[in-house]
Amino acid sequence: MKIVSTIAGLRAQDRDRRRPRVLVPTMGALHAGHVSLIRLARQHAGPEGEVAVSIFVNPLQFEPGADFERYPRPEKADEEVCRAEGVDLLFRPSPNEMYGEDRSTLVEETVLSERLCGASRPGHFHGVCTVVTKLFHLLEPEAAVFGEKDFQQLAVVRRMVRDLDFVIKIIAAPIVRDPDGLAMSSRNQYLNPEERAQAPVIRRALLAAAQSQEKPAAAVLARVRGTIESAPLARIDYAEIVGADDLQPRLTIEPRTLLAVAVFFGRTRLIDNILLA
Ligand code: PAJ
Repeated sequence: MKIVSTIAGLRAQDRDRRRPRVLVPTMGALHAGHVSLIRLARQHAGPEGEVAVSIFVNPLQFEPGADFERYPRPEKADEEVCRAEGVDLLFRPSPNEMYGEDRSTLVEETVLSERLCGASRPGHFHGVCTVVTKLFHLLEPEAAVFGEKDFQQLAVVRRMVRDLDFVIKIIAAPIVRDPDGLAMSSRNQYLNPEERAQAPVIRRALLAAAQSQEKPAAAVLARVRGTIESAPLARIDYAEIVGADDLQPRLTIEPRTLLAVAVFFGRTRLIDNILLA
């Protein structure tokens, strides 16, 4: 596995690249969710292709006062995961390498980014679009894998790729969960034991909604809120029912309707989603 931490190093390394590349962009603290993306990347790359993983805790996508400083950065463990998964290239730049002090260009998707996580985290998706654009230009992958755990991110990236004519195939990977249903996340390690014990209520609420035959979105949402709020440490940031493609609110459950939630346990914000139909 090649490990590259500078843009110059990447350019030198890629001068004679022939093999097609599938990229898995991450912020590190790799868990089984990330590993599933790496394996999907390998399947798409085939024996001829190569799998690249980027690890970069992107300061631009953290709001002021968010967890940028305390975000976990287990460099050695991440390296081991990549090695064990047969990753060909690990790109791990420093913040200085990615952003000059006087940078003044942002990539913004302006419609899908506004609701859901975009409403509670202003500027977040501009940060995501900007760094993903840079990673696409730097690594020039033929395809890139994103998880459905961050459903809105996936939709925003797809839209950006379409609107800006990137010739990159976006591959979606299903959500990987702990045995009790909690969606895996690098942020789960912030949870104290009590919060961790209550967090699977999110999955239970989403599953019950998907199994109910109710059609009015308001009734489904009321039930979801009730279930989640039955956990004393849970505080709902949002619970919304939207179209899975346009992310706009739906009043009734119809095909490709998504239920998406963000829930605080203490200072830790967890997200999850499920297709209702
Ligand atoms: P990060 O949170 O590290 O996630 C990297 C990728 O792993 C994302 O595509 C995310 O959806 C996926 N992922 C995380 N947990 C998952 C799970 N439990 N199941 C399936 N996939 C999961 O998302 C980011 O980083 C950043 O915003 C990034 C795209 C790298 C831009 O900075």
